[in-house]
Amino acid sequence: MKYGIFVYSESGHTLSVVKLLKKELEGLGNEVKVITLEACNPKSDKRLKYVPDAAGYDHIIFASPVQGFSLSQTMFEFLTKVKMPKQQLVSLLITQHLKKAWLGGTRSLNQMKKLLLAHEAKLMNEYDVHWSSKEREEQIQEALKVLSS
Ligand SMILES: Cc1cc2nc3c(=O)[nH]c(=O)nc-3n(C[C@H](O)[C@H](O)[C@H](O)COP(=O)(O)O)c2cc1C
Repeated sequence: MKYGIFVYSESGHTLSVVKLLKKELEGLGNEVKVITLEACNPKSDKRLKYVPDAAGYDHIIFASPVQGFSLSQTMFEFLTKVKMPKQQLVSLLITQHLKKAWLGGTRSLNQMKKLLLAHEAKLMNEYDVHWSSKEREEQIQEALKVLSS
C-alpha cells in the first residue's frame, strides 16, 4: 500500500512518532512518503506556507500537535484546503503535552473528523499520544500498532 503521512510538528514530538510509524509501515511492506507541513513562521504566523499535493496515496495519515486545546492552526488550514479523492482512506495522529484527552486531544481529533467529512474521506484509525504521561513510550508503541493495522 502507498501511504502518505502529512505532519505538522514544531518541537519534533509528532515528527518523531511519524518517523517510527514510517519504519513500522515499511517493515510491513508498504511504501511511505512523509510530507512536512510548513507554517509561514511557527512562532508568529502559523498560516500554511503552501498546500502540498495529496493525490496518489492509498492511505493518508494526518499528524499534528494540539495547540491551545485545539488542532494546530497549520493542520486545520491544510485540511480545509487539501484536495483528495472521495472515499480516501485516512487515519489520524495527535500528540499533546497534557495527560487528559479532554485537554485538547479529543477536540483536535473531532476537528479533523469534521473537516474530513467535507472531503467524504473514510476514517480508519486514530490515536492521541500524551507526551507528559509516564506511559508515553507504551502509548507510542500502541499508536504504531493502531495506525499500521
Ligand atoms: C502554542 C502551543 C499550545 C499548546 N497547547 C496545548 C494544549 O492545549 N494541550 C496540550 O495537551 N498540549 C498543548 N501543547 C503542547 C503540544 O501539543 C505538545 O508538546 C506536542 O507534543 C508538540 O508536538 P510537536 O513537537 O510535534 O509540535 C501546546 C504547545 C504549543 C507550542
